[in-house]
Amino acid sequence: MSYFYNNLNLIDLNDFPVSWWEKLLDLGHKIKENPSDYAEACKGKIMGTLFYEPSTRTQMSFQTAMLRLGGTIIGFDNPATSSVAKGENIKDTTKIVSGYADVLVMRHPVGGSVKAAALTSDCPVVNAGDGGHLHPTQTLTDMLTLKEEKGTLENLTIGFCGDLKNGRTVHSLLKAMSCFKGNKFVLISTKELALPAYVKDILSASGHEYEEVSSLDEAVGRLDVLYMTRIQQERFASEEEYQAQKGNYILDKSKMAMAKSDMIVLHPLPRVDEIPLEVDDDERAMYFKQAKYGMYIRMALIMTILKNEDKPAPLITGTEHKHQKCSNPNCITHRETYLPHYFRGEGTTLECEYCDERTLVE
Ligand code: NCD
Repeated sequence: MSYFYNNLNLIDLNDFPVSWWEKLLDLGHKIKENPSDYAEACKGKIMGTLFYEPSTRTQMSFQTAMLRLGGTIIGFDNPATSSVAKGENIKDTTKIVSGYADVLVMRHPVGGSVKAAALTSDCPVVNAGDGGHLHPTQTLTDMLTLKEEKGTLENLTIGFCGDLKNGRTVHSLLKAMSCFKGNKFVLISTKELALPAYVKDILSASGHEYEEVSSLDEAVGRLDVLYMTRIQQERFASEEEYQAQKGNYILDKSKMAMAKSDMIVLHPLPRVDEIPLEVDDDERAMYFKQAKYGMYIRMALIMTILKNEDKPAPLITGTEHKHQKCSNPNCITHRETYLPHYFRGEGTTLECEYCDERTLVE
């Protein structure tokens, strides 16, 4: 199998230096101020969107971003209407569509799937959410929102509330914010939906303070930013487990009354019941604005990728371990069995290159 490693893919933001994110955020800000200046920036280019999982904001903001840059779009938002329904694997779908488009944007329900796609793509691939793993373009959206609304990415006390286990937006944003100095993290969840160990390890290694609490009431008054999330029903093993978690955290008016007057509320959306509609008129509720910032930062990202002036991040930094299996049942290597088993590290614990979970050596 031959792999292309030279495309400017965005699989995980942390594959790139912070200076690259900052360049994107600056461009996103400029586009927001004068969007019409960029109306022909990607004229003649084609973006392919491969959405194997439902999406409103991410897919439409990517599509609108490309159209506002003068480019065009192809793709599917329902795998049932593509050859995926006939059993086509990710490798073949990606190989074909990457021959038609100049950049691919992909969302998939399984962790590590977008990296798997990038391994065979002839054009750059952007991760628009891979299972419960990562969602780097939501993180760019969240960072642009923080910069525009708080004026900084540093010295913030940020609360993350809800499904910290399955919420890929939480994983990506925590990884990113741990690269800026002075931030403190308050992780508000039940024990069952606590942050995965590998993300906690990243926080500890970065030297940032974090605490895990179960009460939103207790934490809300200390926060500069509250990142609310939906309980990710589709990622639960059973309906009973979901029902036990549903409705545990509701940010209503009474909780907003306990928060600082300049605390802002972010939410990647869609919401279910965790933020009642009564909060929408509170000037600290930033989630609708946040969704719009997502379009500007995606314009900046598409332009940057298609300009192709930056150094690509290496897709694989580890080595192949032919007989080692990833311990995460939701890793793409268990579904697409032709994929080489790449792991980072050595010794008794290895880290899967696709989903980042740690695996004990067999
Ligand atoms: C999020 C996602 O898909 O991970 N939504 C989004 O991209 N704006 C959050 C979610 O689905 O809960």
